[in-house]
Amino acid sequence: MATTKTSIATLQKMKREGAKISSLTAYDSSFAKLMTEQGVDFILVGDSLGNVVQGRDSTVPVTIDDMVYHTQCVRRGANNAFVIADMPFMTYSTPEQAYEVAARLMQAGANMVKLEGGQWLVETIEGLKTRGIPVCAHLGLLPQSVNVLGGYKVQGKEQQQADDTLNQALALEKAGAQLLVLECVPASLGKRITEQVSIPTIGIGAGADTDGQILVMHDMLGMNSDYLPKFAKDFLGQGGSLADAFRSFAEQVRSGEFPTSEHSYK
Ligand code: KIV
Repeated sequence: MATTKTSIATLQKMKREGAKISSLTAYDSSFAKLMTEQGVDFILVGDSLGNVVQGRDSTVPVTIDDMVYHTQCVRRGANNAFVIADMPFMTYSTPEQAYEVAARLMQAGANMVKLEGGQWLVETIEGLKTRGIPVCAHLGLLPQSVNVLGGYKVQGKEQQQADDTLNQALALEKAGAQLLVLECVPASLGKRITEQVSIPTIGIGAGADTDGQILVMHDMLGMNSDYLPKFAKDFLGQGGSLADAFRSFAEQVRSGEFPTSEHSYK
């Protein structure tokens, strides 16, 4: 299947037109190529590679050298793909540090960088955008803060926390973020934020009403036989090839068949 070049403008247009956006994580060239060929709209080189590639129990130990290496691998496999790369834990604690680290990821082949956090990132996001580096924000469950949160828990269940998350989303959009990942929040909050921001929202465990969906590739291939997160679905377990699984994910996101209330939090 031929692939055309995707950009942030493509994703913005999809939001305007109400077309659902599909996205998966990838960490190497072969998977990046295959999923792009099967119609997945963009790729995240997630620091989840700490868990699924390196076998660690969190994303905290992932380094910038790890991220540069895997971003280069993904870019080689998927020339035309829109690729976002995660900035690892404690590599954006000051704006100046963020500029240097983000530059490395962009030079490795990323089209955009992703940072976890709210209001405290406003200055950093403004500075990155001014310097030509597009930013994807990430709110809700922040895996890099797992040690502060005390575990991987649904966020924004209380009214006050939900209101705070919405206000942070608006502040990050105002600062210049062009995309927003919402992780593990109630479906009602995913919908509320999506309606109030003009940038595309991409949910993982954020209900069916975000502008798009993202899953960790290993989850949607059912690679952990002990555990499938509530928000994920095993697309390979349905039978067929890897290509079929990626195509089916993209099609089910597009058609609204995935996710259902079974994959969402109340
Ligand atoms: O690192 C990652 O894979 C992510 C997704 C969970 C969105 O940030």
